[in-house]
Amino acid sequence: MKERLEELRVSALQELQTVESAAALGELRVKYLGKKGALTEILRGMGGLSAEERPVIGEVANAVRSAIEGVINEKQEAFQQEETNNRLRKETIDVTLPGRALPRAAVHPLNKTAQEIEDVFLGLGFSIAEGPEVETDYFNFEALNLPKNHPARDMQDSFYITDEILMRTHTSPVQVRTMQAKGGATPVKVICPGKVYRRDDDDATHSFQFNQIEGLVIGKGIRMSDLKGTLLHFVQQMFGAQAQIRLRPSFFPFTEPSAEVDVTCVQCGGHGCRMCKGTGWLEILGCGMVHPSVLEMGGYDPEEVSGFAFGMGVERIALLKYGIDDIRHFYTNDLRFLGQFARM
Ligand code: PHE
Repeated sequence: MKERLEELRVSALQELQTVESAAALGELRVKYLGKKGALTEILRGMGGLSAEERPVIGEVANAVRSAIEGVINEKQEAFQQEETNNRLRKETIDVTLPGRALPRAAVHPLNKTAQEIEDVFLGLGFSIAEGPEVETDYFNFEALNLPKNHPARDMQDSFYITDEILMRTHTSPVQVRTMQAKGGATPVKVICPGKVYRRDDDDATHSFQFNQIEGLVIGKGIRMSDLKGTLLHFVQQMFGAQAQIRLRPSFFPFTEPSAEVDVTCVQCGGHGCRMCKGTGWLEILGCGMVHPSVLEMGGYDPEEVSGFAFGMGVERIALLKYGIDDIRHFYTNDLRFLGQFARM
């Protein structure tokens, strides 16, 4: 029995020398030391031994078991170490590799222009008011002194959804909403930026959808000179300190008197060129003193307070500021066009 044990030790250790994987090692452990393994098999014969022999053989068996076990454990540790090393090697990060460049986006020229306009008025203490693009006939027209069937409604051809609901044609309804929310309190000093919709055929200067920024100031003793000073400051911030404005009489149902504002031509500085058709001036916005009826419908007493309002198209300002000849460039998302504004 002792010889069989010795043989077992030799063959087990020999086989263990050549084992190449953790899985194979596991199989050998079962083969030699498992419940149905070779060692157990031999030890089953212990019952037939004499009382003197039993402890001697027992000792040998234990020695064989621990020798085999020792090698197996050693090998197992080695396999584990190797596996860890492999994993670490695979996970190594080469911090010297050059990084992948991420394409950098730029603010759209229209948003950029709108932000610039907003910044000028925020700097003057205005706050920003927003309202719905789907608007009621009341807020879009009636409360702005444009009753149903008023001929001036033709100035702004509209997309109606029902008889009473339409896509807003300007952001003036936000001014009405602001007035009514104020409950007669002064001062009111807001700008209303947002998308507006008109039934225009798209061309180089028109779009069925465009962006406006309108402004409204109400308080005691607000005069046309306040309007003029505000607009001059705005224009000089946008187009440079040399820019001048002129007001031409005009008509809007919600303002009286009304004016259209021109800025000195951004191209020729007022000398006359193709851009300004030789006049030296470019039209940029509409404005006026808030009509008494509009003040009343907004919850203000026209005998007590007065106000001015103005409205401009963001596209128009951007066209002039950047010398762009077609409004459609803003909407077609050609990166060759948009990319030019990344560096400005
Ligand atoms: N709401 C006018 C428009 O969209 C612009 C405007 C606003 C004119 C305020 C005068 C005063 O055409």
